[in-house]
This record gives sequence, structure tokens and C-alpha cells, in this order.
Amino acid sequence: MAHRWTNDLTRNDATPEAAFFNRRQVMMGAAAGVALTGTSARAEEALEPNSWEDITQYNNFYEFGTGKEDPATYASALTTEPWSVTIDGLVDRPGDYDFKDIMAEMTVEERIYRFRCVEAWSMVIPWNGFELADLLAMAGVQNQARYVRFETLYRPEEMRGQNSSFIDWPYVEGLRLDEALHPLTIMATGIYDRPIPNQNGAPLRLVVPWKYGFKSIKSIVKITLTDEQPVNTWKQLQASEYGFFANVNPEVDHPRWSQATERKIGGGLFSPRQPTLMFNGYEEEVASLYEGMDLTRFY
Ligand code: MTE
Repeated sequence: MAHRWTNDLTRNDATPEAAFFNRRQVMMGAAAGVALTGTSARAEEALEPNSWEDITQYNNFYEFGTGKEDPATYASALTTEPWSVTIDGLVDRPGDYDFKDIMAEMTVEERIYRFRCVEAWSMVIPWNGFELADLLAMAGVQNQARYVRFETLYRPEEMRGQNSSFIDWPYVEGLRLDEALHPLTIMATGIYDRPIPNQNGAPLRLVVPWKYGFKSIKSIVKITLTDEQPVNTWKQLQASEYGFFANVNPEVDHPRWSQATERKIGGGLFSPRQPTLMFNGYEEEVASLYEGMDLTRFY
């Protein structure tokens, strides 16, 4: 399979969840009979997405509180229309890009990705979105650009968690330019062919499937092309525990827990933990980005 991270679905196949699962079963049937073992079996297995409820009721979005149910409880207060994204820095066409104008230019497709939080839980999520590379091309990336910096909305009247100052708001993330331009890197605007709910980062959020979930910044209002490595929120908060690269790596433990295994949300209280995959299962696609880097060191 040339494009293992995609499948044959497009936005033209608008589907309710039930029809979606039927189609997945057909696809899984086609893959049946392939005998694999251990972690390689996990890497090759057909991805069985989590339910809409799992994906939208168990979230991290500290702008709405630190509890896993806080985002689903409080994120409806966020106004997402109108919405614009400022793209500035080392670009040919800096400016405020209206979300609707962006969507008119982008090709939205479905990507079923593993999602691995640094806290050692995981899900499989059927995102709808477009490649970040296409959005950056709209603005025209200049030659000197090396990094991309992302910022979430700051609006404490609607985001109640921002009234607490344990994070220096707004939430910030960053990618190296080659990571940002990689075809696996998307801006998600939907889940299960529905608009992305507020608690998951409406109206658009980053998804970088081979990195820990905290890199996938939500509700983005600003994107800056720069020649300096941005200081991301979690690295700023606790640099001994959270890095800039934050690539999923089962062999490098978090200082306070192992990263070798993960608990898939929705599996029930007694479901066995599953092995975590190098680069979250996307090693074939992304390992070349890190040639020459010592991946056993904490990045
Ligand atoms: N983006 C913002 N703005 N604020 C956050 O608190 N949490 C991150 C990431 N993006 C976060 C964020 C973390 S820690 C994770 S694991 C994922 O969002 C969770 O995404 P999900 O709730 O859609 O599963």
C-alpha cells in the first residue's frame, strides 16, 4: 500500500457513523488472513476507530479546565464563527486568512490516524482535514524559514481555564519546517465527517500523528514562519519532561512513567495495555526526517 495512512474515503462520501463502520469492516475483511506478530502486527493492523463518544468526551484542552470531561462540558462557550488565522513571519503573503476562504481553497480528505498522548493513553481517530503544506503554500513560505510556530486563541471570557495562570497563555506549539510540510501532517477540521467539535479544537487544529498529542495544538488563530525554534508551552512549563520534538518513542520513558505501552481508550477497565510503536506506527514514513539524531536522548 503506497499510502498506508489514508484510505479510500473522501469528503464526497459523507457518512453517518454506522455506514462508516460497515465500510471499515469491508476493508478489514480484505486485510484478513495476514498473520503478523507483536508490534509489527500493531503497525500493520487495520485501524479500528474509537467511537464518537470516546473521541469527544475524553479530552485534554486546558483552556477549559484540567479534567478530561471539562472540555466537553465547557467548550460550547467558545464562538468559532467568524474565525480567521493570521499567517505571518517569513511568508510572501502575510495576512488574516478567513476560515471560510481557507476551506474554499483546501482539499479535505479523511485520515484515520493513531493518536498517542504523552500520558500513555491512545485512540484511533478518523479525522477530516487538509495537509498543512497546502495552507502554508497559500501564504508562500520564504527560503529562510526553518520552523513553524502555532498559537491558540486567547479569550478568557469564553475559555474559563484561561483565568488560571498555570500556563502562560496562549498555548503555543512548533514544528520544524520539514515536519510541517510532511504529507502526514494535517489541519483537522472534522471527525467522522462532522465538523470538529469545540472540545477537539474547532474550527481547525493541528494533527501530527507520529508525535505525542500535546504537539497537536487546537483552535489555531496564528501561524508564524520563523528561523528560530519556537518555545512550546509544555517545554516552557517543564523542559525536563517535555521536549520540542516529542516523537513517540517506546524506548524513551517519561521521567515519571514508562512509554513502552499504552491504554487504548474505550477498551474497558481491564483491557490489556498494548505496545507503543516507534513513531506511533509511522516509522516508515517519518524516520528519515531524524537521520543522524540520537533518538534515545530526550528531545
Ligand atoms: N491544544 C490546546 N490549545 N490546549 C491544550 O490543552 N492539549 C494537547 C493537545 N492540544 C491541548 C492542545 C494535548 S495534551 C492532547 S493529548 C491533545 O490536544 C488532545 O486532543 P483530543 O482532546 O482531541 O484528544
